[in-house]
Parts: sequence; C-alpha cells; structure tokens
Amino acid sequence: MPSVRFRLNGVETDIEAGPDRSLLEILRGSFGMTGSHFGCGAGECGACNVIVDDRAVAACNTPLWSVADKDITTIEGLGSLEQPHPLQRAFIAEQALQCGYCVSGILMSAAALLKRNSTPTSREIKEALDGNLCRCGSHNRMVRAVLRAADAMAAG
Ligand code: FES
Ligand code: FES
Repeated sequence: MPSVRFRLNGVETDIEAGPDRSLLEILRGSFGMTGSHFGCGAGECGACNVIVDDRAVAACNTPLWSVADKDITTIEGLGSLEQPHPLQRAFIAEQALQCGYCVSGILMSAAALLKRNSTPTSREIKEALDGNLCRCGSHNRMVRAVLRAADAMAAG
C-alpha cells in the first residue's frame, strides 16, 4: 500500500492508504476527525470543506494523492474549546447558525478567505461562501460574523 505524507493541523503525518480514496474518507475514517461533514459527496455543498495550503477545498472531492506534501487544516485545527478561533467566537456572538451541519465547512471557507484577505468586504465574503450551502438560511448572519471576526483579528 503506498504511503502519502502531509501536514495535518500542523503535525507531520503519514498514512498508508489507496491514493484515490477521498481526503474526507481518510480524515473521518482513519483519523477520527469527524468535524468535516459529509453532505452531497460531490463537491457541491461545502459541508466537508478543509483548507489545503491557503484554499478551501471540498475534501469529499479531493483524492488523497493530491494532498501529498501539503498543509491541511481541518475544523479540529482551527480553534479549541479553550481557545476558539475569532471566527468561532464571532459565529456564537452573531448566533450565525441553526442546525450547525454546514458550519464547519463554512468556517473553513471563511478562515481560508481571512488568510488571503484580512479585510474582506461583505461582497467578498458572500463570494467566498458561495459554494457553501446552508439549508437553514443563516447566510446573512454568517456574513456579519465573518466581518466581526475580521474586525476582532485586526484589533489583535
Ligand atoms: S460533502 Fe463535500 S461538497 Fe458536499
Ligand atoms: S445552520 Fe443548518 S444547514 Fe446551515
């Protein structure tokens, strides 16, 4: 079985697995990281989004071989209960979720945006979240939460 090496939430990682298996299957099944959710399984809903280098990608649609030597961040690496990421604080402050199923993918899309652009406009946030579906209709509050997190990060 070939082995694929990458950094997962900052930790050098090596896994023996079929290189064509999806990153989502490996994260959830082999590493027990179940924060990235399975929605459509076809790269269309964003529930499984993770950050690869500085871009949000759909893990369900990303073959393991394609992340060799890359930096992967999942929701488990974004923040912790003790030290939430500013986005997580802002989502709570804005009550920017209902059922929560889409939220880990949305947080990863927003975190990838803030890595590239620390002062996004509402329009840029909407564009960045365009590939993330939310059946609960929480998008407006999510945009406000991302703006709030950007402000908090700018204020240090
Ligand atoms: S589950 Fe991956 S995009 Fe929908
Ligand atoms: S909060 Fe329920 S799907 Fe987005």
